[in-house]
Amino acid sequence: MIYSLKKRTEKLKALCKKTELKKVTELISVGSIKNKNLAYIQDTSRMLLQSCITGSSKKIRSDSDFTSVMNFIKKNKPENITHNGLIVTRKESSIEYALFLKSIFCFLESIGLLNQIDYFISPPQLRIKLGKKSKNFNASDLIHSDSWTPYNTDKSYTLYLPVYGDCKKNYVAFFKPKNSFETKWLEPKKFIDGDEIGKKYKDAKINYKIGKFVVSDCATLHQSILKKGAQPRVSIDMGFILKKVFKSPQNHSHVRTKEIINTGYSQLMVFNDSYDDSLKKILSRKKQSLANRKIIKY
Ligand SMILES: [Fe+2]
Repeated sequence: MIYSLKKRTEKLKALCKKTELKKVTELISVGSIKNKNLAYIQDTSRMLLQSCITGSSKKIRSDSDFTSVMNFIKKNKPENITHNGLIVTRKESSIEYALFLKSIFCFLESIGLLNQIDYFISPPQLRIKLGKKSKNFNASDLIHSDSWTPYNTDKSYTLYLPVYGDCKKNYVAFFKPKNSFETKWLEPKKFIDGDEIGKKYKDAKINYKIGKFVVSDCATLHQSILKKGAQPRVSIDMGFILKKVFKSPQNHSHVRTKEIINTGYSQLMVFNDSYDDSLKKILSRKKQSLANRKIIKY
């Protein structure tokens, strides 16, 4: 059964009590990331991004301020970035991915959230939102609920963490229900068909900026916003499900925290696809893009 608004409000309130999240609306909470956690995630994100981009081109130089990597991405959109900006890690970057995941777990632990999470909707991924809108029917530029996707359920939360780049002209806007809420609004659909539901929501006025993060119930509608002259923005948008909600994963992409929590410590998540395999081929499997993988313990 789809949770009511009342139940969602109570659940978020309980989550805020157990963690460092602060509730700002019935369905939205926010927090500040500690400088050392942010710096750690920024470093591992740069390494992962550089590794994933270099993987598809030999033409790229490495430099400490990262300008050439960003310029390269702006000029030739690399093949291994999906229409919504998800960077699809391949086996050659498994070590960089492990360090990236470790930095995320350190952050989640520091805000008391890690031990509340039972499943991640998929292994956390880095996202780069370039300055151009996507025309896809499920583009994040359209107002949407994450519960509309085939991978989420109506019982997920999403954590939005901007990592670096332009958050002034390239950001996420969040919306809250105006004065009513119907559970059927959360049934799966294409983002492009969500306009009417969007009209029942209003701007929640959440300040999306580096140093802050947002955790929202999936009944929150949101949308990527690109203003004129927008530059790329790198972020982590991570779906998860709390403990005591489901006894087993609800679809192939859900991954238990305990299965991946030691990644970067005593295990690696090794992806089977190589940079020699095209993204088209990976996405044509109709599975989450990091689904083809194995865990190696050491
Ligand atoms: Fe979303």
